[in-house]
Amino acid sequence: MKRILVTGANGQLGTEVVRMLRQDGQYEVRAFNRHELNITDAEQVMRKVITAQPDWILHCAAYTDVEQAEGDGYDANWEINRDGSANISKAAHEVRAKLIYISTDYVFDGKKNHPYTPEDETNPLNEYGKAKLAGELEVQKYCSDAYIIRTSWVFGEHGHNFIYTMLKLAEKTNAIKGVADQFGRPTYAPDLARFMKHVIETRPEAGIYHFSNDGEASWYEFAKEILKEVDVKVTPVDSNEFPQKAERPAYSVMSLDKVKEIGFSVRTWRDALERFKDRVCRKVI
Ligand SMILES: NC(=O)c1ccc[n+]([C@@H]2O[C@H](COP(=O)([O-])OP(=O)(O)OC[C@H]3O[C@@H](n4cnc5c(N)ncnc54)[C@H](OP(=O)(O)O)[C@@H]3O)[C@@H](O)[C@H]2O)c1
Repeated sequence: MKRILVTGANGQLGTEVVRMLRQDGQYEVRAFNRHELNITDAEQVMRKVITAQPDWILHCAAYTDVEQAEGDGYDANWEINRDGSANISKAAHEVRAKLIYISTDYVFDGKKNHPYTPEDETNPLNEYGKAKLAGELEVQKYCSDAYIIRTSWVFGEHGHNFIYTMLKLAEKTNAIKGVADQFGRPTYAPDLARFMKHVIETRPEAGIYHFSNDGEASWYEFAKEILKEVDVKVTPVDSNEFPQKAERPAYSVMSLDKVKEIGFSVRTWRDALERFKDRVCRKVI
């Protein structure tokens, strides 16, 4: 049985990947939330990883508050996303575990107008993107055969995401504004978890992969689709109507070619959103 250690196991992605691997029955999963394994504590990380002797480490823990990373969360962002990732990577190297690190589309500046490939130059615009990119470099420093999976606009059942924000907003108002000049690709957390399992099972070439659902959207289009069965009016607006501390890329769509080349089929974000609604909003299961 393969031993798998998961960091950030209570997050949107961590929850799904743990559930999926446990359901499969072929893995011994050690799932750690931040209280059980604080990735910024180097000594604790090394000790717990040595004790667990994992074959794989799925590093899902992160500081994910993009706005706060520019302010009160400045230090935490760097300590968790860069230094914490270095701790995990050193420990993975120590026990010769394979490592999957989850990174972000915000490593790009968004100046392109066609999908970013893993080889494209990075140039993060905000502190979160900078620290996640620094995390990539730390991971590659200690584990040259690590997998880095960059993802974007993640939504899952557990935790905070844009869908829950929109649904809560729709309870308070019937007029919602959606940013129409930033484009990306939403990612359904269980689909990303399935891709991670595919990587574990097929062991493709190590390196950087881009994973999201297929298709493109602005936040406005995503909001409109989320709320299509709700009686609210969604209006497109420019991002300057929502001044934010963290600059976001105008276009952070990432190419899925490499993922498809290794035999993984990706559904569209609209199909994935329907699945999410069935599971969470319409309570079908
Ligand atoms: N969410 C997105 O839209 C998005 C977009 C691009 C990339 N990503 C990347 O995708 C990955 C998964 O994101 P997600 O959406 O699942 O994020 P999430 O829901 O915020 O989960 C992150 C988890 O990491 C935990 N964590 C924070 N600090 C920690 C520490 N010091 N030690 C151990 N655990 C710690 C958090 O615990 P607490 O909740 O207790 O703080 C949380 O459970 C991350 O690498 C993220 O950077 C996410």
